[in-house]
Amino acid sequence: MKKKIMLIFGTRPEAIKMCPLICELKARDEAQTVVCVTGQHRQMLYRVLDAFSVVPDYDLSIMTESQTLFDITSRTLDGIGSLLDEVKPDTVLVHGDTTTAFAASLACFYKRIPVGHVEAGLRTYNIYSPFPEEFNRRAIAIIARYCFAPTERARLNLLSEGYKPEGIFVTGNTVIDALRTTVREGYSHPELEWVGDSRLITVTVHRRENLGMPMRNIFRALRKAVSEASDVKAIYPIHMNPLVRRIANEELCGCDRIKMIEPLDVFDFHNFLARSYLILTDSGGIQEEASFLRKPVLVARETTERPEGVEQGTLRLVGTDEANIYRSLKLLLEDERAYRAMQRAGSPYGDGFASKRIADILLKH
Ligand code: UD1
Ligand code: UDP
Repeated sequence: MKKKIMLIFGTRPEAIKMCPLICELKARDEAQTVVCVTGQHRQMLYRVLDAFSVVPDYDLSIMTESQTLFDITSRTLDGIGSLLDEVKPDTVLVHGDTTTAFAASLACFYKRIPVGHVEAGLRTYNIYSPFPEEFNRRAIAIIARYCFAPTERARLNLLSEGYKPEGIFVTGNTVIDALRTTVREGYSHPELEWVGDSRLITVTVHRRENLGMPMRNIFRALRKAVSEASDVKAIYPIHMNPLVRRIANEELCGCDRIKMIEPLDVFDFHNFLARSYLILTDSGGIQEEASFLRKPVLVARETTERPEGVEQGTLRLVGTDEANIYRSLKLLLEDERAYRAMQRAGSPYGDGFASKRIADILLKH
């Protein structure tokens, strides 16, 4: 009998990290794979699904403009209960720390369906940072039967919280699986022609806890540093959240060496990262991707759940203070030794075979 494995996710980063696993499971005869998207992200989600040629079996279409956490949670719970009754999966896989992942896990708990948590065990141990993700991932861990930890550190976090070792598996992060298929030699793009021989800073900023003054500080520091370095250009593929767009437009418009563009397809974005001199971001996944590509990353957040990259040297946590971010940018742009010190070899986040390991474990149990 085939094992029915249902994957539930809803946002761009979950899709990027779940698609390699979907492809792996679909190639296994012993698995029947069912894909349900909540549609927490609408356009950004489908751009990833299209890139990986994944067609979901179900779409709850929950997204609304400037949605609240209440909207996402209640609309996901509303949609998923009856779907679980219809599909009757043997196991449900969720990813990471979004509200889709939390609400889907809660629905499975109510229905007593085993949950596998992909990218389990990341922690800051500050429940408000990142918000609400730290709560989401801890709540999912309570429910999950299988915890697929990307790193040894994540496994130790789970053990220290009392989770049973036999339910925890270190697999690497599936985002590295995706990266192995996207980055190409000789890649070109019209926006990169605009960059020319300049050093490229790729920027992404979107976190809920950074909305408001922290976000303004990040943009002001960037603007100041770029305006003082004539051989530097920045590209910011801007998240579709209207609240982010408003602040970015207010702070960054009119600077001719900073270009705000629509979100890039994942294939393009990975190649932009590979072409970058450095990255300024508050994203989670980009910390892993950039480490793998050996690109220095300034992480504009107060905390990170990915300390491996900080210890290894590729990531530097710079917070959201304008002066500190500006100083960190200047240092990397002006001090070649400081820059080289951040380009350390190897990725702490995986080798590109995480999906294979997860599929093996699921189908063996
Ligand atoms: C969500 C996740 C966050 C993750 C991020 C990745 C939660 C609470 N937050 O945050 O963990 O890091 O995704 O990007 O789960 N929008 C569109 N089209 C899209 C996507 C978003 O228009 O394709 C707009 C909508 O107006 C939406 C808003 O962006 O209401 C915010 O989206 P939401 O998913 O609530 O928050 P994110 O900041 O994207
Ligand atoms: N990404 C993308 N296009 C873009 C910007 C980012 O495909 O224009 C990808 C990026 O490669 C990474 C993921 O989106 O895998 C990160 O998503 P985001 O920063 O929105 O979420 P987080 O990782 O912080 O949850």
